Amino acid sequence: MSRSIAPPRKVASLRDCHNIEDFRLLANRKLPFPVFHYIDGAGDDEVTKSRNTSAFNDCDLVPNVLAGVDEIDTSVTVMGKKTPLPLMLSPTALQRLFHWQGERAVAAVAEKFGLWFGISSLGSVGMKEIGERFSGPKMLQYYFHKDRGLNAALLEQAREAKFDAVALTVDTIVSGNRERCKRTGFTTPPKFTAASLFSYATKPRWAFDYVFRESFSLPNLEAYIDAGSGQSISIQDYFNSMLDHSMDWKDAEKLRADWGGTFALKGIMSVEDARRAADMGCDAIWVSNHGGRQLDGSRAPFDQLAEIVDAVGDRVDVILDGGVRRGTHILKALSVGAKAVSGGRLYLYALAAAGQAGVDRAITILEEEIRRDMQLMGARSIADLTRENLRWR
Ligand code: FNR
Ligand code: LAC
Repeated sequence: MSRSIAPPRKVASLRDCHNIEDFRLLANRKLPFPVFHYIDGAGDDEVTKSRNTSAFNDCDLVPNVLAGVDEIDTSVTVMGKKTPLPLMLSPTALQRLFHWQGERAVAAVAEKFGLWFGISSLGSVGMKEIGERFSGPKMLQYYFHKDRGLNAALLEQAREAKFDAVALTVDTIVSGNRERCKRTGFTTPPKFTAASLFSYATKPRWAFDYVFRESFSLPNLEAYIDAGSGQSISIQDYFNSMLDHSMDWKDAEKLRADWGGTFALKGIMSVEDARRAADMGCDAIWVSNHGGRQLDGSRAPFDQLAEIVDAVGDRVDVILDGGVRRGTHILKALSVGAKAVSGGRLYLYALAAAGQAGVDRAITILEEEIRRDMQLMGARSIADLTRENLRWR
């Protein structure tokens, strides 16, 4: 049997990027290796990270035909906002380390496409500026710190910046084991060690931007803590020293009451917790394992999705987060019953590769894939996607 001979995959510029994996290859060329491996890496042996994506291969789409799909509607309403696509940009930290435009680029593209995006507590552009400059639906991703003054200030900043939701991340009570970062010595801000200096020096464009443009900081936090802005620290050490390991359901309920607006829990994986989230009045839950960056060996969100949708899908918006790299992944998750699908690396590789132009192209590609795949499925709206058009191998 002849082996398929794909054309050589030379990815040297934005023009060569036709899918998310192409952006990953270009990001690897552009970034100093500590930064690339911070994005690409995950916990322990990274079994969960790869399963997050391969899980989508365990079921097949069964299309209907002759459905007349010249006009299709790809919109959904999630967390009270109607968005033209069933896609959300997950909150990710330190974005100005990946490209000097950072969260400003991501917010601009989210605004252009009308999509939800998240600003991490460890964001490198402040909520105040994001709220003033960008009109799209936006959420604060909230880390529950030991410092109660900081916790209150994060909520206040989100309120003053007129953010539309708060998502409390609940799967990082301690840090996952990030072995790539241990090997590369990645910290925020970067420390230039003998091992890593070479890699930073051999990426002159990145180095130029890092040294001569706006200095790196974590504006949402720096009035309270130096770690991560002035004082270099690994993410693993940040989580283990700054976040409150005693966080429990009472803290989540109090945070929701203090915020008083649209509220989600990010990192729910068990049916029992999904039910508790619904009982406490969450508007949404993110079925997520943090992109495999936390508990390696935990189940993939797509594998766990049906159980959770069956348990609480009629009470809260269930968002599938993690491993998504293709439009078909999105359609499969929607067919199982997710209200929307979210991803981090699907836009981060593109940010690192080409800034705002890269993120714009990545979301354009995913929009094209969602539309084309729906038309080929004979689906005229998201409601037409059901478990009927899935078969498990
Ligand atoms: C993340 N993620 C994350 N999540 C969160 O709640 N707060 C954060 O600050 C970050 N930061 C972060 C940085 C980087 C570099 C990555 C790759 C991820 C997790 C993110 O929100 C999302 O859950 C995962 O990225 C989903 O997996 P995929 O889409 O990257 O496969
Ligand atoms: C991470 C943290 C910042 O996954 O959420 O790196």
